[in-house]
Amino acid sequence: RSPNCDHLKALVRTVPDFPKPGILFYDITTLLKDKYGFASLIDALAEHYIGRDIDLVLGIEARGFIFGPALAYRLNAGFVPVRKPRKLPAPVARVTYDLEYGTDTLEIHQDAIEPGQRVIIVDDLLATGGTMEATIKLVRQLGGEIAGLGFALELDFLKGRSRFPDFDVFSLLHYDE
Ligand code: PRP
Ligand code: MG
Repeated sequence: RSPNCDHLKALVRTVPDFPKPGILFYDITTLLKDKYGFASLIDALAEHYIGRDIDLVLGIEARGFIFGPALAYRLNAGFVPVRKPRKLPAPVARVTYDLEYGTDTLEIHQDAIEPGQRVIIVDDLLATGGTMEATIKLVRQLGGEIAGLGFALELDFLKGRSRFPDFDVFSLLHYDE
């Protein structure tokens, strides 16, 4: 891990009992508004992928859109949005996945990835891993080669990374509770 991580962690605000009692919310807006913080976060993520020949960065709506495009720019890669339903205009691939209560759906344009292109998938947070697992299914449908899964934060105690034993899973900031 990069030596700056403690400094970055200090910029993340913790909000108890949000969005419901008993949940401790890690709020990155305080990190994002810090010009040092945002730049070092993107640089540290980019550092991990430089030289790995990444064609595309996929960002997952909504909070993956904060990091994905900045990272794509740094890697000289393209950016592809993975969106909530009925937002994309051209033909899509679709996946529905389970949440704690109910289900959610994600979509990607069918022509967003050419078979064999090397992609990384980026999101703000790895919690249970359900969102990322669904996105991996979309990339597989389109024939992309997954070169990595990248996150700003990871809630280690939820063990989401155990869903992805075959992938390079990289998170910058780790939390044990
Ligand atoms: C949050 C977060 C991740 C996901 C992580 O997204 O941004 O995408 O949950 O949880 P998981 O690992 O258990 O799937 P959310 O759907 O709450 O909304 P947003 O990104 O649209 O704000
Ligand atoms: Mg999200």
